[in-house]
Amino acid sequence: MKILIIGKTGQLGSALLKDALALGHDVLAPSRQELDILNEESFLKAMMHYKPEVVINTAAFHNVPLCEVEPIKAFQSNCIAVKKMAEISHEFGAWFVSFSTDYVFSGAKQIPYIESDTPGPLQMYGLSKLAGEYAALSYNKSIIIRTCGLYGIQGATSKGGNFVDNRIKDSKQNNRIEIGNDQTISPTYAGDLSKAVLQLIAHPSKESGIYHLVNEGYCTWYEFTKEIFKILDIGVELVPVDRGGKTDKMRRPRFSALKNEKGAKMEIDLPNWKDALSRYLNMKYNM
Ligand SMILES: NC(=O)c1ccc[n+]([C@@H]2O[C@H](COP(=O)([O-])OP(=O)(O)OC[C@H]3O[C@@H](n4cnc5c(N)ncnc54)[C@H](OP(=O)(O)O)[C@@H]3O)[C@@H](O)[C@H]2O)c1
Repeated sequence: MKILIIGKTGQLGSALLKDALALGHDVLAPSRQELDILNEESFLKAMMHYKPEVVINTAAFHNVPLCEVEPIKAFQSNCIAVKKMAEISHEFGAWFVSFSTDYVFSGAKQIPYIESDTPGPLQMYGLSKLAGEYAALSYNKSIIIRTCGLYGIQGATSKGGNFVDNRIKDSKQNNRIEIGNDQTISPTYAGDLSKAVLQLIAHPSKESGIYHLVNEGYCTWYEFTKEIFKILDIGVELVPVDRGGKTDKMRRPRFSALKNEKGAKMEIDLPNWKDALSRYLNMKYNM
């Protein structure tokens, strides 16, 4: 398959590039300098040059607190650019795949959200991503994949590294660490997500629409950190704290675990989050 991957330096984009090449796909992965999603001309140029069968966009403005401060930039990246790419992909007859988030949900549900649940974002990031979902899905051959709590070998540069690596760094500088126990999530390893995405786009019965793809199961950020430290045998004091589902005034969903209902019916399953975390730590920290 001819695939255009956008965001190759990111957590997910780098995993997709590696896995797509390993599967023998024909991949074009331009740099941000060559293809900026905020520059429609640069996307059009890549499409004309390469004529892919599938476009996979992993680029986004997803620093959640910054989206509150820069809502226009959030909507430009997460909605307007996504709409333009979906529209141009449609004109070229290509499938368009883009990523969304558990933050489209309010967190009021107490069991994992499925694809057909009603969204209710609480902050600019979730709003901009939900708008992007609607924008993309107004075209045929558009797929939105919602994921959650992503960590990958290549850390998220826009957030100053991923959660796992940052907690390990914290443990080297502190004897006592406070971690939120007020948000329940489905932590997801980019390496597992990438394989599931490639399975989905190659699936004969794939359809336009929304898919949830996350590692199976859920935990709070505190429980996740506890498991990281347990696997690495890190002995610092870990203290659960309740921040009321907020960062300053910004609200976050208290429960935003996702369930892969549609993918599972297509036999696209991701392993449990504990299994994923242990493989990640093994690969990155050789333990
Ligand atoms: N991270 C999470 O916890 C999480 C949770 C749920 C959903 N998601 C969604 O999953 C997707 C992938 O996330 P990720 O963690 O892999 O992101 P990431 O590590 O921050 O990578 C984003 C990639 O997009 C590139 N990029 C950013 N703005 C761009 C632009 N204007 N034009 C072209 N490229 C641009 C970045 O390039 P640079 O290296 O130059 O910055 C980087 O290669 C996003 O849609 C995100 O909203 C993430």
